[in-house]
Amino acid sequence: MDKPTHKLSLLFICLGNICRSPAADGVMRKLAEKEGLDLTIDSAAIGSWHIGSLPDSRMRACGRRHGYDFSHRARQVSPADFERFDLVFGMDEQNLADLRRLASTPEAKAKIRLMADFLTDHPGQNSIPDPYYGDEADFEFALELIEDAARHIVKRIKQRKEL
Ligand code: 4NP
Repeated sequence: MDKPTHKLSLLFICLGNICRSPAADGVMRKLAEKEGLDLTIDSAAIGSWHIGSLPDSRMRACGRRHGYDFSHRARQVSPADFERFDLVFGMDEQNLADLRRLASTPEAKAKIRLMADFLTDHPGQNSIPDPYYGDEADFEFALELIEDAARHIVKRIKQRKEL
């Protein structure tokens, strides 16, 4: 009998879980479905301010303009997430520093990734900047970066390459 294949699980993190990470969550879900990949995808916040909230209305509107429905309810990341998920993606260096503090074991720390490391069409861009205090163009740029990184992540999964 075939060994059951492990279902890859990915968690996307940002500061508030109302702008960048629910967008990453929604983009990855749509891409995975399109490519026929069976993945577990979720997102969560570093902070607790927006627990239970839908994504920011500006990110929801930005998503709708590009064919997405971002409807995740915000939650806060916990140490248990490092057991439940194979990989945990932060959006910027501050997210990574916060995640490293939360990850208590070397195994947990080894699951942390920077989403911007998977960008292919934006050379020199080393974070997904927080659009929260910005304008529509900042939300558009964040989504453009997230789509770029997500395409590359999905491509690597399809090619069975390391992430
Ligand atoms: P996010 O954006 O981390 O992309 O969800 C933010 C949302 C809320 C806050 C900061 C960033 N805030 O300070 O409430």
